[in-house]
Amino acid sequence: EERPILIQGPMPIEAEKFAKKLTDVKIEKSGSFVFYIGTLDNYPVIVSKTGKGMENTAANTAIAIEKYHPIAIINQGTSGGHDPDLNVGDIVLGKRTVNTGSLKSGDLGKNQGSNPMIWGPMDLMASEGSGSDPNAKKIRYYEGDKDLLASAIAVKNTYTKGKVVEGTIASSDFWNDEIDRINWFHVNYGSSVEEMEGAAGAQIASAYGVKFLGIRVLSNNKSNGGKYNPATAEGNQDYVYEVVKHYISTL
Ligand code: 5AD
Repeated sequence: EERPILIQGPMPIEAEKFAKKLTDVKIEKSGSFVFYIGTLDNYPVIVSKTGKGMENTAANTAIAIEKYHPIAIINQGTSGGHDPDLNVGDIVLGKRTVNTGSLKSGDLGKNQGSNPMIWGPMDLMASEGSGSDPNAKKIRYYEGDKDLLASAIAVKNTYTKGKVVEGTIASSDFWNDEIDRINWFHVNYGSSVEEMEGAAGAQIASAYGVKFLGIRVLSNNKSNGGKYNPATAEGNQDYVYEVVKHYISTL
């Protein structure tokens, strides 16, 4: 039995376009999650509408792995730029994915206010004990799978709506719209883009030893004034389709 490739998209506009490209689709639901189960070039492919955010994505990934035993997972959708050299329409391949929501604040007292610029990383996977483990203050990066990355790079030129680059995808249940804060993540975490799902999928995929790659198009980029364009989601799915076709050809 061939193990399917799982394609995750948070919003309807980020999943349904891809689902329409599959053959012999049957729909299954688990909780709020919709799985479109079909084939592509006679290979099993499942598209999943995860809903937005880290919790939905983590649960969706665990359920999909337990139910369907995917050989690989691609988490794709839109994102906001942290790198001023990237434009709306450009695509970032997640060479690394990082959770920018697990943070520890500075140690401030009454009337000392709140200063996000001195917050630091908190790695929730570092230890099973208390926060006293020094490793808990390191940033944890999840590496994108090499084979999936190789397929993505191989079909780079099929994408004509912008450039395709390798980078760091930052995820949290947060939309940063403060340029200084965005730049803080760009400098301290090396983030190329932010979104709300990738690191949650990467963490669970890693827990099960399943190959994972995030592929994110910029739908907006506050750092260089790039205006929101939801139509970018569709172009990203067309590109991910080419990536999946290529990856299937290598199996
Ligand atoms: N910040 C956070 N999430 C973003 N998304 C697109 N742009 C951004 C941004 N600048 C994506 C998230 C989520 C939805 C709000 O759109 O991944 O699914």
